[in-house]
Amino acid sequence: MMSSHPAAGHGHGNGHGNIEVDPIWDNDDDSTYESAGSGTSIGSITHSIHEYVFENGRRYHTYFGVDKYIIPTDEQERDRLDLNHEVLLQQLRGELHGAPAPKEPKRILDVGTGSGIWAIDMAEKYPDCEVLGIDLSPIQPNWVPPNCRFEIDDAEEEWIHVDNSFDFIHMRNLNQGISHWDHVLSEAYRCAKPGTYLELSESGQKFYSDDGSISGSSAMLSFTQKLGEAMLRIGRPPMSDGMQEAMLMRAGFVDIHSFTLKMVMGPWPKDARMKKIGIMNWAQSESAFQAYSMAALTRILGMSYEEADRICREALDETKNKSKHVYLKHYVAYGRKPAGDERNTRKRKAREESPDSGDSGDSGKGSTLRGVR
Ligand SMILES: C[S@@+](CC[C@H](N)C(=O)[O-])C[C@H]1O[C@@H](n2cnc3c(N)ncnc32)[C@H](O)[C@@H]1O
Repeated sequence: MMSSHPAAGHGHGNGHGNIEVDPIWDNDDDSTYESAGSGTSIGSITHSIHEYVFENGRRYHTYFGVDKYIIPTDEQERDRLDLNHEVLLQQLRGELHGAPAPKEPKRILDVGTGSGIWAIDMAEKYPDCEVLGIDLSPIQPNWVPPNCRFEIDDAEEEWIHVDNSFDFIHMRNLNQGISHWDHVLSEAYRCAKPGTYLELSESGQKFYSDDGSISGSSAMLSFTQKLGEAMLRIGRPPMSDGMQEAMLMRAGFVDIHSFTLKMVMGPWPKDARMKKIGIMNWAQSESAFQAYSMAALTRILGMSYEEADRICREALDETKNKSKHVYLKHYVAYGRKPAGDERNTRKRKAREESPDSGDSGDSGKGSTLRGVR
């Protein structure tokens, strides 16, 4: 079934509609974008080893253990996270989330807040609401709105927050640091106020093309295959279709909706908004290939720095080939914690319908609405 979020668009790259290639890229002689002056890079690397491990030219935070989170959290990564936030704002047509907006919220939680940019934007949008961002790593800015604050915490531990205390909970792109999603979501369920939403928003790691322009020999595909293998080995498989909905359902959320965004790579789409998104994604890919994979490939798969670096560079180079019209999928799913009365009714109904089934009233079964944008 389709849901009708405005980010669904009309064949402009969000969801299942094919993205039309801008003819300008197909009609000249160069096979790469280099000569078009489109080469780009972002940020600058600051080198610091205070309380961190410094590896392969990047800084990894180690307070919760070296392998707790295997993406760097340095200045370069913060720049990339801010850019990725802009990409997702574009994809969601200016919205900060896909779930219905909270009504007069008093407390909002952003789990794995990273550079804190989503929490800061939400605090500005809801000045009467306290927005709390939690993260493993203290990389958030000091100058933030007075109603925004950050705490260092591991979302996989028992949450310190009281039951029924948040009006909205947001989790975006922290899959690389979570091995026990069911535990995290059961804590989120406990701490969400009845009737409020939890949103999960994760990028997959596979590349797709609608026109068959990437094939088995693609460097991007072998990159994702290697990265997927490494993450699976440590129990953190990349997000894929239907995973988030199943997790929300198991935790007890109801009215589950989901949609998939196409994160295009490069300026190839004809549509102006998607072209802009593609250029921004291109910019972040300058550091994203390495950020996501250097520790995974070297520490988990045992590759040498040179081999891992080559896999990243070849994949990055391939994104600059004009004939490759690729995108990643970004999965958004949200669900509502049933209100008190509703929970009792659901439990009663479940008992009536299946007297032997035990206490399964919060399963949310039958309430998933799969949307494709
Ligand atoms: C890729 S960043 C995304 C940041 C932010 N959510 C965004 O979308 O801009 C992932 C962040 O999640 C944090 N993280 C990963 N695992 C975590 C965990 N178990 N508990 C708390 N934070 C975690 C990392 O430290 C990192 O800052």
